[in-house]
Amino acid sequence: MLRQLLLSMSRSARIRHLVERAPVSRTVVARFVAGASAEEAVASTRKLVDKGLLASMDHLGEDTLDVEQATATRDAYLRLIELLGDDGLTAAVEVSVKLSAVGQALPGDGEKVALENARAICAAARTAGTTVTLDMEDHTTTDSTLGILHELRSDFPETGAVLQAYLRRTEGDCRDLAGRDSRVRLCKGAYKEPESVAFQGRGDVDKAYVRALEVLMTGEGYPMVATHDPRLVAITEELARRTGRSKDTYEFQMLYGIRPHEQERLAAQGQRMRVYVPYGDEWYGYLVRRMAERPANLAFFLRSVATKG
Ligand code: FDA
Repeated sequence: MLRQLLLSMSRSARIRHLVERAPVSRTVVARFVAGASAEEAVASTRKLVDKGLLASMDHLGEDTLDVEQATATRDAYLRLIELLGDDGLTAAVEVSVKLSAVGQALPGDGEKVALENARAICAAARTAGTTVTLDMEDHTTTDSTLGILHELRSDFPETGAVLQAYLRRTEGDCRDLAGRDSRVRLCKGAYKEPESVAFQGRGDVDKAYVRALEVLMTGEGYPMVATHDPRLVAITEELARRTGRSKDTYEFQMLYGIRPHEQERLAAQGQRMRVYVPYGDEWYGYLVRRMAERPANLAFFLRSVATKG
């Protein structure tokens, strides 16, 4: 119930307006968001890289409503990639992009706008020596996002996709994307979805995750296993042993600020461990989804608002 309520809140412009103006302490946002500016976020990311971790940086923002905002988001990514290049970080750090932030939801030619903006980001990333992964949003965007991915991959085959295990279609999508050179991030899924398209219970989602993971790990692509769930981490290690995959043929991914000790433990064992690093002012939707995943985060957030800590 609480999860459903929070996920509805994550898309509400009115509640977003109220919360963004609430006296939320910097500490609560800073636990999950690496900085307000690209410079701050790159400095936080450097600390992760110095610990042997990889990263994927996300300029926060979604549901862009006009072309100017979409262009500004594209330019923010181009600037970020330039900074990563200047800092010599592109071998360890890539970028993650939400297509809704670069125009996908604009009426009329939104998909075309998003494709062109994403193409510019992919081109800059390739020149700088890094890659782009397209985040996945709610199920109404899945076909459009996979279509744009397909277009991008004809010029930039290194572009990564995200598939959400809670969607009933995902095992099939994994089969389609398990081919050579394909980079697929598998996550459980973070949006409020109807039963007609998505498994609802935790147990069913976990089982669907394992089925999709088996497809990716036995395929020819590069699986990116995005989960903090210790059982799924153990299952991935077991599948890697069984399929004879070496540690450089797949990677784990976790979110900035979540299970940081586990991130370092896996890296110390020689696993490729990539941290998803969000930054920027538009943290509302991202933060509310993190609360929906773990009510303890909500208590932490509310305490901090109450104390203005
Ligand atoms: P689960 O929610 O079962 O959590 C397992 C354990 O991890 C918990 O018991 C707790 O210890 C810890 N944990 C998990 N979430 C926590 C939180 N918020 N705060 C504190 N502890 C927490 N989703 C999506 O729909 N589209 C996308 O593009 C992405 N991209 C993405 C990238 C990366 C790198 C990651 C790790 C995740 C995503 N997600 C996502 C989010 C994903 O779908 C999912 O909502 C979260 O990862 C939580 O699911 P877990 O697999 O961690 O399991």
